[in-house]
Amino acid sequence: MSFYTDVLNYEKVKTLAADIDHIDLSTTKIIKDPDVAAATALSIYNNNDISTEALIEAGKRRKKAYRKNNIIGFVPIYLTNHCDGECKMCGMRKNNDSLVRQFSTPSMIDEQLKFLYEQQHMRGVAFLTGEYNDGFARSANAFIVGYALRRALDFGFKTVYMNIGSLQPEYMEIIADFIKPEDRHRVAMCVNQETYNETMYTRFMAQEGDAFKANFKNRIDSHDSWSKMGFVSHQIGSLLGVNKDVGEEVAGLIAHAKYLMSTTAKTVFFSLPRLNPALGTSNKKLVQDDALVRVIATLAFVAPESAVMMTTRETRELQDQVMPLLGCLAPGTPEVGGYLNDPEMMPNNEKVAQFRISDTRMPRDTFERVEANTEFNILDFVSENNRAETGLVANH
Ligand code: SAH
Ligand code: TRP
Ligand code: SF4
Repeated sequence: MSFYTDVLNYEKVKTLAADIDHIDLSTTKIIKDPDVAAATALSIYNNNDISTEALIEAGKRRKKAYRKNNIIGFVPIYLTNHCDGECKMCGMRKNNDSLVRQFSTPSMIDEQLKFLYEQQHMRGVAFLTGEYNDGFARSANAFIVGYALRRALDFGFKTVYMNIGSLQPEYMEIIADFIKPEDRHRVAMCVNQETYNETMYTRFMAQEGDAFKANFKNRIDSHDSWSKMGFVSHQIGSLLGVNKDVGEEVAGLIAHAKYLMSTTAKTVFFSLPRLNPALGTSNKKLVQDDALVRVIATLAFVAPESAVMMTTRETRELQDQVMPLLGCLAPGTPEVGGYLNDPEMMPNNEKVAQFRISDTRMPRDTFERVEANTEFNILDFVSENNRAETGLVANH
């Protein structure tokens, strides 16, 4: 059984959705079947009789029933901007000769962990890299990321994430070797599918067609392998703007999340990055704010047991607008060593970054403001009134 072979089927979901003639926005039920849930989400997303305002209210209510007032927080650390991928939208793409390439030393990793732990009061951190083509580079990257994850856990971070491209069992083994069995539930694998439409995927992610990243099936299968290895936390995602049919993405995300939950997954995050400008790419916003908000509300309504994410790709205003629908907020910068230079503001420089961000406030500012001005509290962030202990746990 695999998601790609046995579940993903947009034609089938569209047929099921066409038969749905009533949506009860006051329901308290959770649909577990991937096809039925995907069809329900598609029919809600496309139904003009359901206003986005009504959907937001229903989504808020259902999200609160599952996640209370908690929003999970984490911050990304880019370990390198080297990459063998050829994705057209990304500043890190291999053929982008104008990007200045960088690679983190162990001290850069430690200094950023220390800064995020002690000064930003974070207890959740993600590591990011490019994706590599040959077996040695893939193994070496797994080794580096395994090292960084282990270091973060030893420092006292509670939840760690990695967003390093698709992963096959042999590379997962290298990473798992750094993680004690009792810490496995703290490690999330983030692999955005980018789009659930295989044709659009191939068009965007391949130049010559031989980049590892260009393999749609390999990428989607990573999540099946991750759960087979006994890990329980997944981030899936759609890069909004790649596929014109946003409904197909809503259906794909819901089917994927419900499928993973029906196997072993305990937590599924939905990442919904919108294409942001990057060095040498086009600047068009292809999915407008109102469409993004509707996607978020639909996902929160149909899958309130999962967690919709937002990042600093989006403005502070938009973050505030959808806060009650979010399960996760991840402020950060896609720049290698991004937290080392200015403790007051995150860098936002196209010459070295994967893409530009819209909000450069430090994570701590963002989270303190959310906790001061709303009913929400941030998990994996130490609140202002709870800061007796700030020292790192590990010796370093
Ligand atoms: N190299 C890894 C990690 C990528 S970074 C991989 O490709 O999986 C995480 C995500 O950033 C990507 O999955 C993609 O969804 C997103 N991304 C890439 N280019 C972007 C851009 N120009 N604007 C916004 N998000 C982008
Ligand atoms: N791109 C990753 C994601 O969407 C990691 C990330 C989280 C990120 N927050 C960010 C990247 C802020 C850049 C800026 O999951
Ligand atoms: Fe490389 Fe990932 Fe960017 Fe593609 S999205 S070019 S694989 S970093």
